[in-house]
Amino acid sequence: MMRYRSCLILALTIGVAHIAIAQDAKPNYDESKIPAYTLPDPLAGIESAAQWPARRKQILEQFAAEMFGKVPTDKFNAISVKDAGTRKQVLGGKATMWQPVITLAGRDLNLLVVMPTDSQQAPAFLAYNFHGNHTVLDDADIPLTKNWVRSKPDNRAREEDRGSAASRWAVEKIIDNGFALVTLYYGDVDPDVDDGFENGVHAAFPDKPAADQWGSIATWAWGLSRVLDFLGTVPEIDETRVAVMGHSRLGKTSLWAGANDERFALVISNNSGCGGAAISRRRIGESVARINTSFPHWFCDNFLKYNDNESQLPFDQHMLIALMAPRPVYVASAVEDTWADPRGEFLAAKHATPVYELLGREGLPADEMPAVDEPSQGSIGYHIRSGGHSVTEFDWTQYIKFAKRHLMNEQ
Ligand code: GCU
Repeated sequence: MMRYRSCLILALTIGVAHIAIAQDAKPNYDESKIPAYTLPDPLAGIESAAQWPARRKQILEQFAAEMFGKVPTDKFNAISVKDAGTRKQVLGGKATMWQPVITLAGRDLNLLVVMPTDSQQAPAFLAYNFHGNHTVLDDADIPLTKNWVRSKPDNRAREEDRGSAASRWAVEKIIDNGFALVTLYYGDVDPDVDDGFENGVHAAFPDKPAADQWGSIATWAWGLSRVLDFLGTVPEIDETRVAVMGHSRLGKTSLWAGANDERFALVISNNSGCGGAAISRRRIGESVARINTSFPHWFCDNFLKYNDNESQLPFDQHMLIALMAPRPVYVASAVEDTWADPRGEFLAAKHATPVYELLGREGLPADEMPAVDEPSQGSIGYHIRSGGHSVTEFDWTQYIKFAKRHLMNEQ
């Protein structure tokens, strides 16, 4: 367990007392037991919009060095097209599906693209899927991934799972509203398992990540940027209007992708929780210590310093949201998803608002947590919907409405 070893080394080196991992600590769900905290000010030291880019850079670098980890080198950024894919019509002809395969750092990324037939320069949603492209659409032409798959017998993709995640992907609605959908399996880039960074794209990188270098979330985010590079070569898709979307750990990923790569025109976090949109200092539901223990490969080793020590973080997650400014960003929660701290997600969206306002944008219109199933949408969008940890038709309806307003100029 490479991450555990480096945790010990780090503890010895920097002597941080708080590094002990609260493995068995019970999660807190009681608002009255939240420790008193002060949020760092995203606008600290600046007064004008002109000063924001420098401040933004500073915040971005802190998040990179202390939490997600930096990409070690841009030497492996180049992509090549291995198979351009053939187009076929689906959804009664109104959509065209194709499956280009691109190679990145020696790995094949199998894309599934569904776009309005005859679209030219369509805006697109780009999102990773959890278990393979065949789970998004029930279509016999979509090959099963051969890569390691989480929570499946023998960690293999199965024929019987074709279309099993279809309810999480409002494909027809996306098409009917003039958007393309581009998806790929996140395990194509890096299998979601703590293997000491031996597999996935990491295999191409000569050295193991240093304490301030990427964990898997940053690696997946890097992969999304490389897919965006590819989309720039696709005439039917407008790479200047790509919304990057993700659910849960992949929502943490979409936020980090959007923070790093300002080419993403819009960013969506669905139920991203701890390490995503939720304020770390609240310690409601999943905590920093808990996430670092359960998923030692997700963040960089420096993030271990903040186990049970959130007050020392030089930032909090409202500043991650603020890194999207002035671009539109949407944060979505679900009532029963208490592990992800819905209120903490709302507060991050709210406390990013001063940055948007400094840049002349509205930010989040709601001052208080909106009622269930009643979205609030400015340049920051937020909703808390009924139900649990998932992506639903309701969520997609809001994302499409938000994206139409911001990427298609439609009210
Ligand atoms: C776990 C994890 C969360 C994560 C979620 C998911 O619940 O603790 O941080 O968001 O998995 O990705 O489904």
